[in-house]
Amino acid sequence: MDKKKILILGASGFVGNAIYKELCSYFDTYGTYYSNRSFAENKQFIRYDLEEDDIFRVLEQVKPDIIVSALRGNFPAQVQAHQHLMEYLVKTDAKLYFISSANVFDAYSKFPSYEHDKTLSLSVYGRLKIKIENMMMRLPKGKSAILRVPMVFGNSSPRIKEIKENIANNEPIEVFPNLIINVTNDDRLTQQIHYLINRNKTGIYHLGSSDLIQHEEFIKEVIAHLGNYHPVYKRVYTTNEDRYLAALPKDNILPKNLRISCQEIIEHHLPV
Ligand SMILES: NC(=O)c1ccc[n+]([C@@H]2O[C@H](COP(=O)([O-])OP(=O)(O)OC[C@H]3O[C@@H](n4cnc5c(N)ncnc54)[C@H](OP(=O)(O)O)[C@@H]3O)[C@@H](O)[C@H]2O)c1
Repeated sequence: MDKKKILILGASGFVGNAIYKELCSYFDTYGTYYSNRSFAENKQFIRYDLEEDDIFRVLEQVKPDIIVSALRGNFPAQVQAHQHLMEYLVKTDAKLYFISSANVFDAYSKFPSYEHDKTLSLSVYGRLKIKIENMMMRLPKGKSAILRVPMVFGNSSPRIKEIKENIANNEPIEVFPNLIINVTNDDRLTQQIHYLINRNKTGIYHLGSSDLIQHEEFIKEVIAHLGNYHPVYKRVYTTNEDRYLAALPKDNILPKNLRISCQEIIEHHLPV
């Protein structure tokens, strides 16, 4: 059986672990963890510290066909690890799927952005993602996929956990009334990534909801779904005008059954 070998960097994190769980029954799947020792006894997991270890060691150990990068950590160390990943990719048949972010467009606030729009960011986080994306764009065609992801929600997401904690502690919940976004959840995102890997897809993908919503409206609707709560909201205005932080698909559209709307994401949240 020709079972692809997959290595997920950051498989102990929220996004990486959701991807691991989605793929592990279908592929020979490995993952890295850093500080979360609960993975230490798991034979599929390897400890990897961006700042101390060379990624080559992990690559040599696993010899993956597919690498999924879902890391956080020190920015210069992330750049160096990805530079080493590029060197491995050109030497082997492996492909890289990189979890990027809608923040690669955060300097453009007047419109949503599409796959082949020029990236420009005002944030250090967005600039880090652009730097790694640019390295990937210099690779030969068919070697990598840039997956631009908006805010990820879901019952077990850190974002929803924080909202629940704030409700329980009577603390205000931050909302951005003039920020227009698209969103996703862990379940649909991982199904989309599974599909892209199965079909050997490469290129740039915008993996968010097909429609847009105001941040404040979205958060309030999610909370209405969680139960009969009346939290205090802290409304944060960063500009006077509406601002978009949204990466929408246009050129690389996924099949209908894999798309998702903001409403479906809201309804997916279960009462506490
Ligand atoms: N969550 C979102 O809404 C969202 C949206 C768009 C894009 N993304 C991207 O998705 C990726 C994963 O995000 P996440 O939300 O899943 O983050 P997370 O839950 O904080 O997970 C981060 C992962 O990186 C690992 N890590 C942290 N420091 C490290 C180090 N020094 N060396 C090696 N590994 C290290 C963590 O390991 P330990 O936990 O074991 O320490 C964990 O596996 C990031 O690249 C992020 O930019 C996330």
